[in-house]
Amino acid sequence: MKVIHTITDLEELLQQHRQEGKTIGFVPTMGALHQGHITLVKRCVEENDICVVSIFVNPTQFNNREDLRLYPRTPEKDYELLESTGADIVFVPSEEEIYPAPDTRVFDFGLLDKVMEGAYRPGHFNGVAQVVSKLFAFVKPHKAYFGEKDFQQLAIVREMVKQQELPVEIIGVPIVREPSGLALSSRNQRLSEEQREHAAEIYRIMQESTLLAGEQSPDQIVRFVTGSVNNVPGLRVEYFGIVDGDSLQPVSSWQDSGNIVGAIAVYCGDVRLIDNIRYR
Ligand code: PAF
Repeated sequence: MKVIHTITDLEELLQQHRQEGKTIGFVPTMGALHQGHITLVKRCVEENDICVVSIFVNPTQFNNREDLRLYPRTPEKDYELLESTGADIVFVPSEEEIYPAPDTRVFDFGLLDKVMEGAYRPGHFNGVAQVVSKLFAFVKPHKAYFGEKDFQQLAIVREMVKQQELPVEIIGVPIVREPSGLALSSRNQRLSEEQREHAAEIYRIMQESTLLAGEQSPDQIVRFVTGSVNNVPGLRVEYFGIVDGDSLQPVSSWQDSGNIVGAIAVYCGDVRLIDNIRYR
């Protein structure tokens, strides 16, 4: 496994592989890797000749300086995990390498980034699009892998690829959960044991809500999930929305779409967690 820090070295190496007719798969990450990332990397290794993983904590997608500062960074452990999973290239650029000058591009995703994460983290998806479009331009992958936990991010990346007509196939990979049901996240490292137990209630309550969906409307389910999660000690719901899985706009009836997802953001202490569940 090669660890590469500059765009020039990365492009040179990938050019050789491309000339040999090899397919390139890509997993962009911000490091602090866990089994959720490793599932993406495994898929990437299986489905491509060359698997490239990037580790870059992208400052333009953080709208909270403290969140950026506290974001866990575990490079040595990440390299070990990636090596044992079979990644071929790890790209670990500096901030200057990715942003030699401020990136002033403004993307237009219509209503996709006006709801949920986009509404509560202004500028977040513009930052994601900035970095992902740059990384795609350097790596030029045939396939790129994203976790379904970041369900809105996946929709935004698909939209960006469509708008820019990029020749990359975007693959969404299902959420990996702890035995308790808690969705794996780099942020879980900041939870105490007790907080982890409380945070596991988020998925349990969402699962319970899927069983009630036959008798209750989406609005009633939103009230049920929000109220139940808020009743768990230490948890505070920022939003819970039941939306069409493609347009991400709220649905008022289960008949509105064949693809309906509930997406939630919850503060557990000062740690912000997101998760989602499919209703249809
Ligand atoms: O999902 C993430 O870890 C990040 O948003 C990504 C896609 C690596 C872009 O910085």
